[in-house]
Amino acid sequence: MGMNRMSSDALAKRALPTGAPNVYDAEPIPDAARAEIERLLASGDLFRYTAPEGAPVARLEAEFASYMGVRYALAVASCSAALFLALKALDLPRGARVLIPAFTFAAVPSAVVHADCEPVLVEVGNDFRIDLDDFHAKLDGAAAVLISHMRGHTSDMDAIMAACEVCGIPLVEDAAHSLGTLWSGRKIGTLGKIGCFSFQSYKLVNAGEGGMFVTDDPEIAARAVIMSGAYEHNWKKHPGLQNSFQHWQNKLPLYNMRMQNLSAAVIRPQIPLIDHRVLAGRTNHDYVADLLNASPWMEVPPSLPQETRAPDSLQFNLRGFAADDEARAFQSAAAARGISVQVFGLSRDNARAFWNWQFLGPLPELPKTRAMLMRACDLRLPARLVRDELDLIANALIDAVNEVKGG
Ligand SMILES: Cc1ncc(COP(=O)(O)O)c(C=O)c1O
Repeated sequence: MGMNRMSSDALAKRALPTGAPNVYDAEPIPDAARAEIERLLASGDLFRYTAPEGAPVARLEAEFASYMGVRYALAVASCSAALFLALKALDLPRGARVLIPAFTFAAVPSAVVHADCEPVLVEVGNDFRIDLDDFHAKLDGAAAVLISHMRGHTSDMDAIMAACEVCGIPLVEDAAHSLGTLWSGRKIGTLGKIGCFSFQSYKLVNAGEGGMFVTDDPEIAARAVIMSGAYEHNWKKHPGLQNSFQHWQNKLPLYNMRMQNLSAAVIRPQIPLIDHRVLAGRTNHDYVADLLNASPWMEVPPSLPQETRAPDSLQFNLRGFAADDEARAFQSAAAARGISVQVFGLSRDNARAFWNWQFLGPLPELPKTRAMLMRACDLRLPARLVRDELDLIANALIDAVNEVKGG
């Protein structure tokens, strides 16, 4: 091993002298990926459109579509690429207003401006869900709604879907954190016109980078496939879309946001593991949530009755913390016990705090979202953790909060 490279074991020991688990390690890649990666390396067949059929990316698309129960899946370079293509595939006019939650990752408003649209930020409450009053107030004049299920928290999708239906505007789901989440038994990412997923390393399926675009609409699928970079007649390698493709041939820009075969080789063996990871993640989350909710100083908002969550992280609110310094003291007390907790609004330049999205120009004031971000804590909680590790984390947080609040 070179001087500047360390094994993950060594890193974990270095990072966490208290014996707390290192929750920042990504999921290991299943051994089953190795043979396919070797084959791809030996042949050099990395481009998705070289093989006449059966390329790993094409197989992944078929498998993901089948897992999600949708007609079309398009593998792309990232979830951001999928979100951008979603707005482009909807053919929204330049400057179209797109509602997004004010609590999300900066990549989401970025995808909206990348697509030449205008993001309209909607307030998010202490339960990490969209504030429906603000949503309804801002809906008039919107051309589309992009719901980011941030950290896997599902807003009231019955109300949101009904409102989109009444206004006749499309709904796009950013399901980057919601792979495996159900809403009244339906898979999140399939409720709207288009669903977008991420395979970036801190997601349920780890490919380093990667994304997926799903839809049941053949016109939208065809447009997205072409714009993702299916130049000339490469669209023939996407099943079931021939008529729509003929129509759009040469009429759309090629943005080249394709996935390559090595990524698909890494992702494919993880698809059969999703359900297990979802269940383990939810069990871990609910176990720690119960322990934290027993403290008067911490609150994990409950899931909605329609929601079956797939969390790989945990968010909780600090209660009765009037001063920012008190919340910072809690962060330090948790860190001293080896647990890294981020209060979204207290870390400098946090990409999930809307006031840092200065690339949007003048930003609205959103008091509810701001108040939530100033006391909401973020903790990674990967599905692989075992009971002892969960106890250690929960006890460390309870000790830390008691140290600050006394008792
Ligand atoms: C809520 C949310 N949406 C979208 C994205 C973009 O995902 P990607 O990194 O695959 O572009 C992220 C990235 O972490 C995210 O957190």
